[in-house]
Amino acid sequence: MSPSLHETDHGTPRRDSEVEVTLEIDGQPVTVPQGTSVMRAAVEAGVHVPKLCATDSLEPFGSCRLCLVEVEGRRGYPASCTTPVEPGMKVRTQSPKLQDLRKGVMELYISDHPLDCLTCSANGRCELQDMAGVTGLREVRYGVGGQHGGAHHLDSPKDESNPYFSYDPSKCIVCNRCVRACEETQGTFALTISGRGFESRVSPGQDQAFMDSECVSCGACVEACPTATLQEKSVIRLGQPEHAVLTTCAYCGVGCGFKAEMKGSEVVRMVPWKDGAANEGHACIKGRFAWGYATHADRITTPMIRRRITDPWQVVGWDEAIAYAAGEFRRLQAAHGRDAVGGITSSRCTNEETYLVQKLVRAGFGNNNVDTCARVCHSPTGYGLKQTLGESAGTQTFRSVAQADVVVVMGANPTDGHPVFASRLKRRLREGAQLVVIDPRRIDLVKSPHVQAAEHLALRPGTNVAMVTALAHVVVTEGLVDEAYVAQRCDDKSFREWRAFVARPENAPEATEAVTGVPAAAVRAAARLYATGRSDGTAATLADFVARHGRRPNAAIYYGLGVTEHSQGSTTVMGIANLAMATGNVGREGVGVNPLRGQNNVQGSCDMGSFPHELPGYRHVSDATTRALFEEAWQVTLQPEPGLRIPNMFDAALAGRFKGLYCQGEDIVQSDPNTQHVAAALMAMECIVVQDLFLNETARYAHVFLPGSSFLEKDGTFTNAERRISRVRKVMPPKAGLADWEVTVKLANALGCPMDYASPRAVMDEIARLTPSFHGVSYDKLDRLGSLQWPCNEAAPEGTPTMHVDHFVRGKGRFIITQYIATDEKVTRRFPLILTTGRTLSQYNVGAQTRRTENLRWHAEDRLEIHPHDAEERGIRDGDWVGVASRAGETVLRATLTDRVQPGVVYTTFHFPESGANVITTDNSDWATNCPEYKVTAVQVMPVMQPSEWQQDYGRFRAVQDALLAQRRPRERDEAVPAK
Ligand code: SF4
Ligand code: SF4
Ligand code: SF4
Ligand code: FES
Repeated sequence: MSPSLHETDHGTPRRDSEVEVTLEIDGQPVTVPQGTSVMRAAVEAGVHVPKLCATDSLEPFGSCRLCLVEVEGRRGYPASCTTPVEPGMKVRTQSPKLQDLRKGVMELYISDHPLDCLTCSANGRCELQDMAGVTGLREVRYGVGGQHGGAHHLDSPKDESNPYFSYDPSKCIVCNRCVRACEETQGTFALTISGRGFESRVSPGQDQAFMDSECVSCGACVEACPTATLQEKSVIRLGQPEHAVLTTCAYCGVGCGFKAEMKGSEVVRMVPWKDGAANEGHACIKGRFAWGYATHADRITTPMIRRRITDPWQVVGWDEAIAYAAGEFRRLQAAHGRDAVGGITSSRCTNEETYLVQKLVRAGFGNNNVDTCARVCHSPTGYGLKQTLGESAGTQTFRSVAQADVVVVMGANPTDGHPVFASRLKRRLREGAQLVVIDPRRIDLVKSPHVQAAEHLALRPGTNVAMVTALAHVVVTEGLVDEAYVAQRCDDKSFREWRAFVARPENAPEATEAVTGVPAAAVRAAARLYATGRSDGTAATLADFVARHGRRPNAAIYYGLGVTEHSQGSTTVMGIANLAMATGNVGREGVGVNPLRGQNNVQGSCDMGSFPHELPGYRHVSDATTRALFEEAWQVTLQPEPGLRIPNMFDAALAGRFKGLYCQGEDIVQSDPNTQHVAAALMAMECIVVQDLFLNETARYAHVFLPGSSFLEKDGTFTNAERRISRVRKVMPPKAGLADWEVTVKLANALGCPMDYASPRAVMDEIARLTPSFHGVSYDKLDRLGSLQWPCNEAAPEGTPTMHVDHFVRGKGRFIITQYIATDEKVTRRFPLILTTGRTLSQYNVGAQTRRTENLRWHAEDRLEIHPHDAEERGIRDGDWVGVASRAGETVLRATLTDRVQPGVVYTTFHFPESGANVITTDNSDWATNCPEYKVTAVQVMPVMQPSEWQQDYGRFRAVQDALLAQRRPRERDEAVPAK
């Protein structure tokens, strides 16, 4: 599927209407939906009316007057972009008068333009240049070069402050497209037109440079600009691309579609794909600009081995590295038993790659010791939604939020973590939907331009279960349950038990206030809003709404790691599902239960059987029928018992029972909690194989390093948070010669586990054959449709946008009691503050990719956010170095004083190894899934002097490892490492 570099611009957005209108344009009949502009109808008829201020991603503005047309029976020359079609209309787009008018407009534009077209970076792709040609402009009488001379802006200084794009006001035609893109598409409102008349110019704030403004560098304005005024610096440096390849962003779980615009095998720019269903032509700073890591000098492109982790690395060929790794795994199994080795799949790798790694473990190692980094983020989602609704996945498309009347965002920070979804959400909020934010911290969505949450429930970290149960209490006791829905679709016994449980007085908001810290009135208002669409809603107002609209208000819940990464993460997920079922908010557009997945392929890695207890498609390994299917296909005998989860692997390693690990694309030393524990476990193993782009922190403990391939270097698929499967396409050869899937195939074959795939397409064919929810998935179909949401099979050949439409996947929806149990992680006099963690817009996860890009300019270090009261008590000023100590460890960061966090709570990100957020997190975890309790760590914070040299020079991890290495005895005595 080769997209065009020059896609058709229809001028104005598509209108969806069941009413069709037929008109005539230049004598040709054309039929379009009601509300369509004359300009767009003309394009449908194959006629391109000249335009400058219009583009089909933005509402028409009508400022340039280039698109004038004649309409039979009407006086004057209406602008075709702002004129809607009418039945029987007869439109003329060409006439001598229209040509004169357009030439006049163009002459004025060109009179204040540098006319350096030959050396301009937009040469060949400039709409102003195109329009000069289309209108037949031959003479310019005004401006600096014209016969009359005149004022101009040609000396206006450029703004080069943004590392990714430049702003050259001398080329600006003040079409306002950038301003509207920032407002309508991105929702940041960073740009204005300052000055009046001839003086008007685009401005990112009063006398501000882009980097000092509110701009979040999403690139929407750059994409909208018809000239070289706003231009990617990569295009300025490399020139215009010559071909494009469609692919999918490798950062977050939104899964934006992109056109990689290329020159040979060099990326010139990444352009958000207009037809990408997840993003519809929008992007964020990471996917749009932060792809330079793929060619960063730090990439390791040759395999390496070493016998001991204290030895220097030895560069070897692929065959030697693979043979060494396979030999070590087999040696360890011979010496310590079949279960002494395992593997970790990556939520950043493709579906095909994770499928192959779990197959290697189950069929090659002969055990089920496979787990994935989803263990530490969304494993409670998988468990909780499976138990209640019957499927381990979100229920909606992102587009569905456009139909929501009320949106609850819980434990998520979409503007930073899922920015393109946040833009959709903000658009819906500007249209009038109401918002409830449940988060300990005042995230941007609580109050930002044209967005104000109706309620912000700033609960104490660790009290989510008490909060969702209190919300349910209000729904149940105030008569707001959707009785008909529940009676028809849910399990009656579980509902009755749940109803009785949540109605108990101890679950009332007035009772839970002491636990959550949130005033009961706010909780009641939020629950009423969710259930009725009004903060003061009652059963009567709800009945009135239903009578008027024929349905209840659409209320959707979106949640993130602030829900899952707790000791009761799974319980909260089930509580959210309970709430949605009780109010009838599952099974149609605009509602649902929607986990916002952190990494690009978290959903996919879980779908592909990366958990130790599940084969692909979430089928338990104890299920003999499923096992028989895979045994037949793989020609092996599979184990019926679940294998080890990641934390169990660490414990088994420290107990001397687990000796070898194949870790693809995850930096467990940086991302998993309690670094000291992880480091000790890794040091107790004898063969660690790390496959990654960079020599990451885990590689410090590795014996074999296999170079990884970036998403630009391989074919495959990712599955986003909407269950949307999208193609990843190779745009350049793998830097190390092999794509990740090829490396796994080689390793499997070396282990005597035959794998013979010609390409990732063949792997997907096997997945589709063996997985009911993927039966209808193929690369051909993905190429044809662009993307597919699973389940995709005989019952839904083109996929399933909304789940649980007529009934729940499990049959009857099951309510589950959500008893609040306080975490063991208590504040004490020694550790009086609660630390919670999150991410920021410009960095991603452990930062391995984004730290190797210009995104460092926005976020160059992790900082500790602390409330001014807590800071004052401790004598801490903004920017001071502070020591953060927990029961697990200590680290040093700089402080930021802010009332975004409440007193008693501190917050940090975890993007930099030197700040070591996970040195202080504990190994407490979710009761059902072992997902770590990252979001609640009791800490003390004290001012310290500057961090020592060692900490500045790469921090805590090295010290931890070096200390452990110093105590390390010879390898042959490692078996004696005591259990923790
Ligand atoms: S890059 Fe995005 S946020 Fe910044 S000004 Fe442009 S549209 Fe607005
Ligand atoms: S910067 Fe570009 S998009 Fe914005 S007003 Fe100027 S020409 Fe139009
Ligand atoms: S990081 Fe997420 S929101 Fe940003 S471009 Fe990539 S997929 Fe889209
Ligand atoms: S394109 Fe219609 S007025 Fe500018």
